[in-house]
Amino acid sequence: MTCTGAMSLTEVEPLLNPLTPETYRVVARRVETGDVVTLSLEPTSGASPLSFRPGQFNMLTSFGVGEVAISISSAPGASGPVEHTVRDVGAITHALCNSAVGSIIGVRGPFGTDWGVDELDDMDVVIVAGGIGLAPLRGAISHLVDKPGRTGRVYVLVGAREPDQLTFLGDLERWERDGAVVKITVDVPDSHWQGAIGVVTTLLPTIAFDPARTVALVCGPEIMMRFTVRGLVDLGVPLGSIRVSLERNMQCGIGWCGHCQLGPLLICRDGPVFADSEALEQLISERER
Ligand SMILES: Cc1cc2nc3c(=O)[nH]c(=O)nc-3n(C[C@H](O)[C@H](O)[C@H](O)COP(=O)(O)OP(=O)(O)OC[C@H]3O[C@@H](n4cnc5c(N)ncnc54)[C@H](O)[C@@H]3O)c2cc1C
Ligand code: FES
Repeated sequence: MTCTGAMSLTEVEPLLNPLTPETYRVVARRVETGDVVTLSLEPTSGASPLSFRPGQFNMLTSFGVGEVAISISSAPGASGPVEHTVRDVGAITHALCNSAVGSIIGVRGPFGTDWGVDELDDMDVVIVAGGIGLAPLRGAISHLVDKPGRTGRVYVLVGAREPDQLTFLGDLERWERDGAVVKITVDVPDSHWQGAIGVVTTLLPTIAFDPARTVALVCGPEIMMRFTVRGLVDLGVPLGSIRVSLERNMQCGIGWCGHCQLGPLLICRDGPVFADSEALEQLISERER
């Protein structure tokens, strides 16, 4: 660095790079539900597929609209484009959900911590997902179900508000076929629904798992995660064996701006997946507003 205070382009570039998105092309667009879309993305540079771990997220840019954090919903190492599943809740996610095949979006990442599924070969894994919370877990579940030599069982518990808000039904069928125990419930049934009714925590007592050799992965609305963590602890799962993925509004995604602060933690840098008891205690001790 020069001592005049001015920085050359070569000096500035490494500092800017983490905030500069790479361009990706939308190569496929699949409507999952009325307001949820999965985008399949490939780098326009022709570079090799993105290397990531399940649970990590990217910052996606809809050019001219803005940038948001979105989890990677495909499995690491899967052939083909990287997938992101987006719920249309505001201006930026609306623009992303409406990105046509062939259009260009920006991608920065991957960022953050992951579910750590590689260490769980001999453990039972209980996965609890609420609504769009299945998206950040999808790659982890595929990894667990497909990994040769795993001895632990995989339980997938999914809750949605209504049947037409259930996502990844094809994956759920495939995981069940390949040995996972899959259970689904909805809060409000329609006239065709023949399955379980109730919040996702009502599924916990219906599975026969050994809490002492279980790791739980939980993602969904914060209130759902709070009740799920409490439910798991009540069934004997140690707090230290529970991992949750937390969300906060993000801007830089790399620990620079402080937008995603939760007490002493930065969700983008220390999370989004938290496995430590301190973050979980903070989550479950919060009272409903
Ligand atoms: C690590 C991480 C991973 C995420 N993964 C996904 C994903 O896989 N798929 C997906 O659809 N969304 C995901 N989100 C949430 C997504 O980033 C927000 O929905 C998005 O920022 C909303 O932006 P918007 O401009 O479309 O809506 P806005 O106009 O900003 O917000 C619309 C509504 O969503 C709420 N909101 C905004 N940001 C967030 C947030 N970060 N978390 C919760 N509520 C928010 C607002 O309070 C408001 O009610 C993730 C967020 C984080 C932090
Ligand atoms: S989003 Fe900037 S510090 Fe986390």
